[in-house]
Amino acid sequence: MEVTRERAWETLTRYTKSEALLRHARAVEAATVWYARRSGEDEELWAAVALLHDFDYEIHPTLDQHPQDGAPILRDEGWPEEVVEGVLSHAEHLSMPRDTPLKKTLFACDELSGFVHACGLVRPDGIDTLEPKSVRKKLKQPSFAAGVHRDEVYEGAELLGLELDEHIRNVVEALRPIAPQLGLRTAATAQA
Ligand SMILES: [Fe+2]
Ligand SMILES: [Fe+2]
Repeated sequence: MEVTRERAWETLTRYTKSEALLRHARAVEAATVWYARRSGEDEELWAAVALLHDFDYEIHPTLDQHPQDGAPILRDEGWPEEVVEGVLSHAEHLSMPRDTPLKKTLFACDELSGFVHACGLVRPDGIDTLEPKSVRKKLKQPSFAAGVHRDEVYEGAELLGLELDEHIRNVVEALRPIAPQLGLRTAATAQA
């Protein structure tokens, strides 16, 4: 099977109906592909793995099933092992080695995309003017977007060999073009 973004979206939307989960998938995709583009990696492959990483969360909402019980479904659907392994590698509790740039990037973008998204939702212009400094400040407030694991955000930047501020800046830049699809306001809509 040829690995494409479009096929991944098809598989994802067959198992996932929640708008919030679809937005999460798109955000992680945008950030992951931003890094793929920057280093000349296979954008279709990286997009597919990012879109699929939580594809089974709606049917397997607990960690005794997600994402490990999703793997046989992906194999049945014809997804190659490279994709299945990439998907499995994002889960902390499976302790799989993050031994490729794709696995490192997916892990680094998963929690931070969600966090940047959450920061944008409480700002009048979304993420248009969001700076790393205010993201870092929010990271230190445990009650804000409490579901985001801070240690995984810090670990992700380290895994990429980036300063946290640079990683935040990259993710914000990656999400800006899809801000409206993520339900975020923009400077343009704020004025309207
Ligand atoms: Fe997950
Ligand atoms: Fe995720």
